[in-house]
Amino acid sequence: MEKSRIKSVDFMVKAIAAANTMHRDELLFYYKGILYPRTICSPETFKALESFEARRDDVILAGYPKSGTNWLSQILTDLIAISQKKTPGSESSLIAEEQEVISYLEVGDAEKYERMTKLPSPRFMVTHLRPENLPESIFQNNAKILLLIRNPKDVATSYYHFSNGMALLPSYETWDDFFTDFMTKKMAWGCCFEYLSEWNKYADKENIMTITYEDVKENPALSVKNIAMFLGIPLTEEQLQLVVERSSFQSMKKNSDKTHGSFGNILFRKGGVSDWKNLFTEDQSKKMDKVFEEHIAGTKLGKRLKYDLYCKA
Ligand code: A3P
Repeated sequence: MEKSRIKSVDFMVKAIAAANTMHRDELLFYYKGILYPRTICSPETFKALESFEARRDDVILAGYPKSGTNWLSQILTDLIAISQKKTPGSESSLIAEEQEVISYLEVGDAEKYERMTKLPSPRFMVTHLRPENLPESIFQNNAKILLLIRNPKDVATSYYHFSNGMALLPSYETWDDFFTDFMTKKMAWGCCFEYLSEWNKYADKENIMTITYEDVKENPALSVKNIAMFLGIPLTEEQLQLVVERSSFQSMKKNSDKTHGSFGNILFRKGGVSDWKNLFTEDQSKKMDKVFEEHIAGTKLGKRLKYDLYCKA
């Protein structure tokens, strides 16, 4: 396993060990009204993040938990390697070693932003944060943001299974209990619907490209091409095929032992669309339809989600 990967898996192993000693109620803490996992986030880090200086050529992947952020991270990391004339997956493509241990912007110690000032461009980072909680410099300096969204029923389904497999998050005895918490803003990183409506305010900005999980699933080659174009990275047909192949669910799952350690098993679960139909009752489905209709349906991001296609039985 690559050195940076070892460090990042090691970081997660330690966080999981700490979480295992904690009571369920202690696992999350509130910061500015939103819950976060205590073992990997902290108020000190959030405070330090406020003065983070973004660069114009930073590449930021933003997505609510379980939207496919690890998938798109793989695609973006490979595209950045290509832009630096490196072969994706080769030893030389490992920007990684100097890269931050954890690419999630809000995860880790408060000193990480100081270390990040020494990283070469382009820096790549991922975040689950809502836009109003990101440092202002990201928007002032027009860093490139790829906003990833996924249909909320599959997000909830994926989040439920993940919460039950991942010690950092409170687990649930029943899907019904989880659903109640999901609908009442008790999730780590906040409410999925508020996330969408807050990001919707930014969706027209020139430096932000929105992409849906379902679109990438439907046509990975076109999606990779569009992302590369947004980042200004020219791609040969061969490079395009390589990125698509390396980011397929099968490849990533097969490789997950090396990339994510034992955590990979929990992360690469089904990788499909409509698994929600195996969990939602009719009543729960209608409840979510109502909330979606009231808060998101008419917005730009709401339309991008093609809710009727992916979330109606
Ligand atoms: P499921 O639980 O529905 O399988 P995140 O990375 O934001 O935590 O999101 C995890 C979700 O993305 C999981 O969904 C996971 O299986 C899915 N995923 C990860 N890699 C993928 C890939 N290469 N193709 C499709 N889905 C992928």
